[in-house]
Amino acid sequence: MARTKFVAGNWKMHGGLAVNLSLLNALRGGMAGVKAQVAVCAPYPYLAQVQSVLAGSPVGWGAQDLSEHAQGAYTGEVAAGMLTEFGCRYAIVGHSERRCYYGDTDDVVAAKFAAALAGGLVPILCIGETLAEREANITAEVVTRQLEAVLNRSGVAALAGAVIAYEPVWAIGTGKTATPAQAQAVHALIRARVARDNAAIGAGVQILYGGSVKPGNAAELFGQADIDGGLIGGASLVAKDFLGICAAA
Ligand code: 13P
Repeated sequence: MARTKFVAGNWKMHGGLAVNLSLLNALRGGMAGVKAQVAVCAPYPYLAQVQSVLAGSPVGWGAQDLSEHAQGAYTGEVAAGMLTEFGCRYAIVGHSERRCYYGDTDDVVAAKFAAALAGGLVPILCIGETLAEREANITAEVVTRQLEAVLNRSGVAALAGAVIAYEPVWAIGTGKTATPAQAQAVHALIRARVARDNAAIGAGVQILYGGSVKPGNAAELFGQADIDGGLIGGASLVAKDFLGICAAA
């Protein structure tokens, strides 16, 4: 089954009205000839700006997180319904920076995943092992546990409306990319775990690779059988680099 390639930018906590505007305009203007699905995930305060610049373009957008609740007394949190009001199609859930610095456990991530789906968003579920976990040879156990938290809560059918991103924590922002073979091996096991519950959903789910993807390494990564594109951090802030990655996809 041919899966569409997908390149999503994760701006993280970067940006400002002026730099966003030139980046967004460059993306909007640079999509001719790009066959992949493309999106950017911006900080919450800029979603209105992203919407106004990208509306009507082939570039989608989303948030980097969301609340597990639909509304209520949760100071500082942002609900799925608020994101869709600003045209968001996606919400990243379970990014390793959320898991490491903000206490997002597997259970919280599963709840956020469910909230995104319930609110009409496509969750981009991030999973991945730390360097210590890789060195301890427990990569498969870790990503399986992270995936099963979502499967157990929402069921495999939920993955038909979601995207998975494999992001080895040791490759994020470090310049150390997983080799295409290393990444492919983990992507294959993620797909096999989904396929164990539902073969068609396993075959169809997009699994992105994230971790120091650059224009120079994107084509080889995206050429692997089970790598369906990328979740891009640093390089998504530079129009030329992000567009180069989109072209590689
Ligand atoms: P870098 O591309 O900066 O390594 O970040 C990857 C990432 O965390 C995307 O979510």
